[in-house]
Amino acid sequence: MPALVLLGAQWGDEGKGKATDLLGGSVDYVVRYQGGNNAGHTVVVGDQKYALHLLPSGILSPGCTPVIGNGVVVDPSVLFSELNGLNERGVDTSKLLISGNAHIITPYNVTVDKVTERFLGKRKIGTTGRGIGPTYADKINRVGIRVQDLYDESILTQKVEAALDVKNQMLTKLYNRRAIAVDQVVEELLGYAERLQPYVADTVLVLNQALEQDKVVLFEGGQGTLLDIDHGTYPFVTSSNPTAGGACTGAGVGPTKISRVIGILKAYTTRVGSGPFPTELFDEDGEALRRIGGERGVTTGRDRRCGWFDAVIARYATRVNGLTDFFLTKLDVLTGWEQIPVCVAYEIDGRRVEELPYSQTDFHHAKPVYETLPGWSEDITKAKSFSDLPKNAQNYVKALEEMSGAPISAIGVGPGRDETIEVNSFL
Ligand code: GDP
Ligand code: IMO
Ligand code: MG
Repeated sequence: MPALVLLGAQWGDEGKGKATDLLGGSVDYVVRYQGGNNAGHTVVVGDQKYALHLLPSGILSPGCTPVIGNGVVVDPSVLFSELNGLNERGVDTSKLLISGNAHIITPYNVTVDKVTERFLGKRKIGTTGRGIGPTYADKINRVGIRVQDLYDESILTQKVEAALDVKNQMLTKLYNRRAIAVDQVVEELLGYAERLQPYVADTVLVLNQALEQDKVVLFEGGQGTLLDIDHGTYPFVTSSNPTAGGACTGAGVGPTKISRVIGILKAYTTRVGSGPFPTELFDEDGEALRRIGGERGVTTGRDRRCGWFDAVIARYATRVNGLTDFFLTKLDVLTGWEQIPVCVAYEIDGRRVEELPYSQTDFHHAKPVYETLPGWSEDITKAKSFSDLPKNAQNYVKALEEMSGAPISAIGVGPGRDETIEVNSFL
């Protein structure tokens, strides 16, 4: 079973970094296939805490080759500062591979992200402001800059000119900003070329050859299912495909090669930025989840919106990703509640709806229908096996599994690498 996809089943921040790191010791390659430094993945190893944005979490496992696939958008300055930070802490990053076809987040993409958000006013998406959407827009508009363009100054200059022709009109005439000089951008981008060079590779070939040799490849999603540009809560989404199919296009690996798709699922729900969130809490419970769960964004430092577990969303994630397993995280955060409400369906304009409505209007009107499960008060952070959990915690997990449509194969009971209960092996 050599190729696994690990992705977020909700709105991101489910604990993907920890889950990837946990498997990192047993896999040969960890591949990011979409997104960019909008991601914030926290990994806790012993007393060390790492916050990764662009690099795959496998970078912390010495035997593993980290890969940035063609579907990722790369901000070279962020990449270098992340590499520097890890090197200063003694992490070897020399094995990193970056696809020559990955697109580059240019300084003007970051500018456009910020001005468009400002102009959207109260309709804003609440992006991370990292230039993600505009970079993917340039890719689709065929005016993007790719990593390989840094090695041909003439092509690079022509492409930057083509991209800035329209953007400068927009920036000066519509947004009242200064025009951006082509030369300056070209010079900045060329300045990254030399340091980037040793990492640049034909990652599609590398990964397919690895799979032919029965190596284990793990595809690590950024963001989450409900932030997917096609399958998420559009327009309040990111501009790529975190769902399982994105691993194929974003890494150049055929769907027949994928053997397992693991959805990372938080025992409750969080969301950052704008957009609908049926189980969101505005009361003391929401505040307590935020405080106990440490729900503050790794990338932007924004407080995360918090709410109860939503089984409708989990079932949807199972369907659109073809999930084979769930990794349930942060069960320990729920310790101490006498009763825990779980959303089992929605009420939409007086009707009970069991599945995620495809219409945006309906989803905006969705009110959660709750079932309440009995809680537990015992500390579970030291639990090593399912039977170590208090009966009510076991029942909570079993109930979620039944509602969500795929087996829960691992349970997180704390942020550390070893604070995990393995129910079924992933490899
Ligand atoms: P990601 O973006 O999906 O990688 O998730 P983030 O790193 O943004 O957010 C998840 C947070 O939860 C991080 O601070 C993790 O250290 C932490 N975490 C992950 N799993 C667990 C768990 O089982 N229990 C607790 N208490 N914290 C966890
Ligand atoms: P990880 O990988 C949570 C959200 C932003 C915003 C929307 C669009 O840590 O789970 P973008 O900058 O991508 O154009 O913003 O998506 N968002 C995330 N929310 N976790 C993330 O990554 C996110 N990456 C983007 O808050 O609502
Ligand atoms: Mg995160």
